[in-house]
Amino acid sequence: MESVVVRGGKVLEGEVSVSGAKNSALPVLFSTLLAEGTHTLHNVPRLKDVESTCQLLELLGCKTQREGTTLTIQVPTLSNFEAHYDVVRKMRASILCLGPILAKYGQAQVSLPGGCAIGTRPINLHLEALKTLGAEITVEKGYVHASAKKLRGDTVLFETATVGGTENILMAAVFAEGKTIIENAAKEPEVVDLANYLNKMGAQIKGAGSSIITVEGVESLHPSEHTIIPDRIEAGTLLIAGALTGGKVKVTDCIPEHLDALISKMRESGFQISTEESSITVHPCTVWKGVDITTTPHPGFATDLQAQFMVLMTQAKGTSVITESIFENRFMHVQELSRLGADITPKTRVAVVRGRKGGLEGAPVMATDLRASASLVLAGLVAHGATKVNRIYHLDRGYENLEAKLRSLGADVERLHQ
Ligand code: EPZ
Repeated sequence: MESVVVRGGKVLEGEVSVSGAKNSALPVLFSTLLAEGTHTLHNVPRLKDVESTCQLLELLGCKTQREGTTLTIQVPTLSNFEAHYDVVRKMRASILCLGPILAKYGQAQVSLPGGCAIGTRPINLHLEALKTLGAEITVEKGYVHASAKKLRGDTVLFETATVGGTENILMAAVFAEGKTIIENAAKEPEVVDLANYLNKMGAQIKGAGSSIITVEGVESLHPSEHTIIPDRIEAGTLLIAGALTGGKVKVTDCIPEHLDALISKMRESGFQISTEESSITVHPCTVWKGVDITTTPHPGFATDLQAQFMVLMTQAKGTSVITESIFENRFMHVQELSRLGADITPKTRVAVVRGRKGGLEGAPVMATDLRASASLVLAGLVAHGATKVNRIYHLDRGYENLEAKLRSLGADVERLHQ
């Protein structure tokens, strides 16, 4: 079982580049199922979840080949429409193959993804929306069985904004008869990136990035080429790493406007943050104050940055109240941070953090989910002595070589293979 050991106390300085966005690469990869032929995707991050997605595409009959950060996917006419439990249980986002396979082939059997550490992660909104477009949906023995001669355009209203639900319906609607209107659509940049690639393939999608998206059904799509947007969550994680250690860190190859909520909260806390077209710089700061955050759908404060920001608040002057409104169990990192000496009182959806600079002591901790593992590495940067983060496979799902990027900024961090 691999682990990462961080020795705290180093001030991070310098520039670091961001990889492509995991949460854009995954839906864009599944969207290739809508068009036979060869798709070329650039800036695809080297991540376990991308590998799992390529494995599923290959089980469906596709061929994938990686040259650096460019991935080519050869998509045949599928003869297998099943996403098996063994693959889906490793990566919940596999449910995103449901929309494209159903849209193109009129049938799909996809294992229910099941929950994960941060929540039950239901897909009821995905399935209700597909039924609205005319799909027959049954759930038997842990599998979703979907069928539809031809989906027909309609108005889909999501009672809560769902990133995956919006993405699944976007892909399902591209060949539907007539117009589909998605109301209360998720506005995340990754939804926009998916819509941009679908339009490059010949889809007729308007309004992505707003809460109302329209899709005019077309006869077919053709493969194309695309560059995945930068990963705003990795960018935010690296920015917080610099801020925590009181250094000056410039995060490059990112899109600053994707991080408006984090930047404004860090400024409110006392950090000087400057932005250029494709970079964000945090400037040295020794004292910052506790600020309250509530995670909400984009453009609000990203739930995927909640754990990382909590670490920053453990070192703040004063108290901060962190409210997690998206997932019901996304405080798994709290008890591990408390093992390092952080003063955090978790309730169901609210955690009160009493900041105390210099108060963390290195210790062995256990990663429980992707973003929690990132927060434990960040905590190690400012803990006295060594922090050993176990079960680091969680980190590899969503960060491309985070320890090397932190080392390039001066952090004392290494991976142990034992
Ligand atoms: C996506 O998950 C991301 N994953 C998550 O990132 C991210 O945290 C989340 O969006 C919110 O931004 C990918 O894009 C692969 P949702 P998704 O559907 O689509 C409830 C990471 O760390 N809901 O927007 O699964 C759900 O329980 C991961 O990179 C239903 O109730 O999230 C949650 O409370 C973690 N029924 C809320 O909606 C449904 O049918 C938002 O979930 C669907 C969702």
